[in-house]
Amino acid sequence: MAGAQNWRSYLCCVGGSAAVEDDDSTPRRRQVRGKDSPRSSSRMSFTSLSSSEMLSPEDLSLTLSGSNLHAFTYAELRAATANFSRANYLGCGGFGPVYRGAVDEALRPGLRAQDVAIKYLDLEGGTQGHKEWLAEVFFLGQLRHKNLVKLIGYCYEAEHRMLVYEYMSFGSLENHLFKSINGALPWMTRMKIAVGAAKGLAFLHDADPPVIYRDFKASNILLDSDYNTKLSDFGLAKDGPQGDETHVTTRVMGTHGYAAPEYILTGHLTAKSDVYSFGVVLLELLSGRQSVDRARRPREQNLVDWARPYLKHPDRLYRVMDPALECQYSCRGAEVAAIVAYKCLSQNPKSRPTMREVVKALEPVLGMDDFFPAGPFVFTISVEDDKVVGVKVEVEEKKPHRPQQHQSHQDRHRQKYPNSSIHAGIVLHSRDGMVGGDDYTGAIRRQRRASSHRQERGA
Ligand SMILES: Nc1ncnc2c1ncn2[C@@H]1O[C@H](COP(=O)(O)OP(=O)(O)OP(=O)(O)O)[C@@H](O)[C@H]1O
Ligand SMILES: [Mg+2]
Repeated sequence: MAGAQNWRSYLCCVGGSAAVEDDDSTPRRRQVRGKDSPRSSSRMSFTSLSSSEMLSPEDLSLTLSGSNLHAFTYAELRAATANFSRANYLGCGGFGPVYRGAVDEALRPGLRAQDVAIKYLDLEGGTQGHKEWLAEVFFLGQLRHKNLVKLIGYCYEAEHRMLVYEYMSFGSLENHLFKSINGALPWMTRMKIAVGAAKGLAFLHDADPPVIYRDFKASNILLDSDYNTKLSDFGLAKDGPQGDETHVTTRVMGTHGYAAPEYILTGHLTAKSDVYSFGVVLLELLSGRQSVDRARRPREQNLVDWARPYLKHPDRLYRVMDPALECQYSCRGAEVAAIVAYKCLSQNPKSRPTMREVVKALEPVLGMDDFFPAGPFVFTISVEDDKVVGVKVEVEEKKPHRPQQHQSHQDRHRQKYPNSSIHAGIVLHSRDGMVGGDDYTGAIRRQRRASSHRQERGA
């Protein structure tokens, strides 16, 4: 078969592929080369692979021989998911349905017993096809990093195309940020997610040749039970510009609300397109709002258009911050993150920072705990003959108050959202001991708010 021959000769040239692994946040060492000397690639380029004829399963497995990916059969993955049962269904995106499954050593020698997520390409109903499936196998087969989801294997048999990933038990950031019924994601968790995702993108951009992810968005950021962050969905990933190229030209693909404006206009793709999309997700983390939300007032439907002007003004940032955070965030940290988002969202791609610079700017935010976590406080009311004769608030202060000059966000937030809930333990005391009672809660909150407002006004 001519195609197979082409592939084998190509493999001879590259000598197979070894997974490029990087577990570090520091930049990968790159070879210093003269202006005219060609870059020696450590990774196969996808462009040459996908522009050739259809690859047979045997050729694909040969191509990926250095990548430690397992080639599973359809029957094996059907058994691993209990016949793709409804109970194992995790969700569905443009690629097709996703199922939870389990694999172990009985399936392949050396395969660790673990839960997996299996994506089943829907060639008819989905918006993606064989090429996107191949891109995913190809990129994730070669690139390993703690902030990229690990691809364990794939299935390529007749019309069946599947991808087998490590199972990420907390699902996607999109679900946690916009669809959660378990309360708002805390500030520090949001920043941990942002830093992890930034590291994943920085790793891709530093690869040789660089990889442009092209579909950075909240639904493609997966979380484990410790909120460790991993990027998934490499179906739209592209090899970045090489040599003297400044960009690669592609059909415009990606997701509305996340794609960079110059990419939408011209189809010119650079790593800075990913930086823009990162800025959008960072803004979603700060604001708790989706990049496009048709349910909002017309002026606020496009998050970037509405929020970007506020980001570089610390005294106006409170307008953007997620009310669900209930002021529980570091103002200094929020200001740093807002400036990073502002720069990433620049209209001019050259003014955007690199992802390495983003990581460097955001990492210190994880150490900024200059906020006052509203831990439990005890409100003691002394009652005598059904009359309140004394009120005392004892606050369990776990962390130092933020410095005075950084109070404006929270103060303004409190004024704007006076009904933010405050969790309090209320204890009612009579002379001879505790009498208790929930009826006082609302009144006490109102009293507390009134006194705090008086304090703010210096009364
Ligand atoms: N490795 C995984 N572990 C756990 N759940 C996963 C994993 N990969 C995907 N999922 C879940 O499967 C569902 C569908 O994911 P998928 O990536 O196919 O679609 P999407 O990201 O929602 O949309 P899009 O097609 O735009 O990427 C999501 O709810 C996601 O959380
Ligand atoms: Mg996805």
